[in-house]
Amino acid sequence: MKVTFLGHAAFLLEEKGVGLVFDPFLTGNPQAAAKPEDLKVGYVLVSHAHHDHLGDAVDIARRQGAVIVSTAEVAGLCSKQGAKTAAMHIGGKNPFEFGTIRIVQAFHGAGVEGGHACGFVVNFFGKNVYFAGDTGLFGDMELIGRLEPLDLALLPIGGNYTMGIDDAVLAVEMLRPKAVIPMHYNTWPVIKADPEEFKRKVLARQKVDVRILTPGQSTDF
Ligand code: NI
Ligand code: MN
Repeated sequence: MKVTFLGHAAFLLEEKGVGLVFDPFLTGNPQAAAKPEDLKVGYVLVSHAHHDHLGDAVDIARRQGAVIVSTAEVAGLCSKQGAKTAAMHIGGKNPFEFGTIRIVQAFHGAGVEGGHACGFVVNFFGKNVYFAGDTGLFGDMELIGRLEPLDLALLPIGGNYTMGIDDAVLAVEMLRPKAVIPMHYNTWPVIKADPEEFKRKVLARQKVDVRILTPGQSTDF
């Protein structure tokens, strides 16, 4: 599985010709490492409707005929704008051509009335990837790690709107993933954080494969 960091909280997963992107905020993203028209994806997963997550999702979905997977309220918003959607909700787990998508809770605003922010556990050709979205730390991360043993966790570390470094270190302890990539930091001064500090603090507590990616960088799992 090839994982590419597109900047902020946008990640691209690719394997066997299938592309899946999380929270593709590219237009207006000072870290953006791709243009919406460059992405070849069949699936666009949106954690919530804040602009730095919903981003170019509808544009990409319409351009590619890709399906937006999100909670019902966010999917409804995208559907009204002409995107193909798969509306799910927290606790749901559905099969897709690459494996499965499970939607899990996130403690954050939805960005749409009556909605919830969410995270995703995606089984992508056999690898379990947890994308936390925007969230504060919560104790049930322990449970998420037990539901599906995680090969990779994508976790926010920037603080202010989400977990900061020290809380994200505890999140890694609870999730017990094999590997971690930090996200949602340094896009703007308000979420300034040092990913090397995160890595040091995680490694001081446990053996985990912490990979820090610069926008545009890819890594294989
Ligand atoms: Ni947000
Ligand atoms: Mn955000």
